[in-house]
Amino acid sequence: MMMKHVFSTYNRFPFQIVAGNGYELMDEQGNKYRDFTSGIGVCGLGYNVKELNDAVTKQLGLIWHTSNLYESQLQEEVACKLTKGKEYLVSFCNSGTEANEAALKLARKATGKKQFLAFNHSFHGRTYGSLSVTGNEEIKAGFLPLLEDVKFAAYNDFDALEEITTDLAAVILEIVQGEGGVNCGQGEWLNEVQAKCHEKGVLLIVDEVQTGMGRTGKLFAFEHFNLKPDIYTVAKGLANGIPVGAMVGKKELGEYFGPGSHGSTFAGNPLAMAAANVVLDKLNPDFLDAVEQKAEFVWHYLKQELANVDCVEDITGLGLMIGIHLDEKVKVNAVIKKLQNQGLLTLSAHGNTLRLLPPLIIPASELLAGIEVIKDVLSKCLVTEG
Ligand SMILES: Cc1ncc(COP(=O)(O)O)c(C=O)c1O
Repeated sequence: MMMKHVFSTYNRFPFQIVAGNGYELMDEQGNKYRDFTSGIGVCGLGYNVKELNDAVTKQLGLIWHTSNLYESQLQEEVACKLTKGKEYLVSFCNSGTEANEAALKLARKATGKKQFLAFNHSFHGRTYGSLSVTGNEEIKAGFLPLLEDVKFAAYNDFDALEEITTDLAAVILEIVQGEGGVNCGQGEWLNEVQAKCHEKGVLLIVDEVQTGMGRTGKLFAFEHFNLKPDIYTVAKGLANGIPVGAMVGKKELGEYFGPGSHGSTFAGNPLAMAAANVVLDKLNPDFLDAVEQKAEFVWHYLKQELANVDCVEDITGLGLMIGIHLDEKVKVNAVIKKLQNQGLLTLSAHGNTLRLLPPLIIPASELLAGIEVIKDVLSKCLVTEG
């Protein structure tokens, strides 16, 4: 099939995924794939999940849209679970980019300042605000001018701390830069960024769109480093595939996001909320512990099995967010296609990185089996391509 009626903003692979179950996907020819993508970090609980199907189907039969002019018990429940009932408030939206847009708006309004500091290789979305704080010149090309008041600094660089000055409204960062190449923030650096933000009266926005919802083995990746962001943003895995996003901000910021200050017709949609409610119940401490244990096992295996493969330069990541950095002679998209032919779906990230975001529910044995396939394909790469 050739798609003739849709803008070609995506380089699509020439097959359709038409069904899924657990960690397995099926294309229109009936070929089955082990999924190491979760959409792009969305379907953490896998596909065709009974509890999710039941909750959304039940909600479908009740009501699938109401405006935000009325109270919502479902939104309240999801917000309470998302904030763990603590010192934060939630503003719902429909995507990660919108969550970051809301965060930038709230930061400006609350501080009365306009400048932001963001980091090279960051990705925060494609709308004008979120694109402005994205550290990737290629995807900005042709869309200028963006917000003027954005500075960029090197990620994980202690010199970047000098850029955190009183004239900033906020610093925005990912704990692991996903699209930018699966670059892990170092705990000491992240804590110093937070401390400097506090010292200078600057808000810290943590973008958990890709790292959140259990992806790294904690509900939010900032929990690994005991950070307490002023604002964090969530989307992707929140409703396991029904479009939703959320901007979560400290309670004291509430007065700046009062009636009329922000909103969206579809924000907090009942179907998305019904799904998010189940997702948040399922991502309980036992589930997250199991993800961490699985990840530990997998990291051990990855280092043992892949670190010595010729074309593998480095392996980075946290939890079940994994980046395999490839020698430039081996093209990551060619590897992805070979893996597809072997029944394994994977992703890429900046810098010739093979990115793995498997569903969190995948058994460890299936993760290891997939890594064996990757090892096999990569082991032959420099021989055939070099
Ligand atoms: C860290 C991060 N922030 C924001 C976004 C944008 O989210 P969305 O595509 O839902 O707008 C993404 C998407 O990949 C992301 O990875």
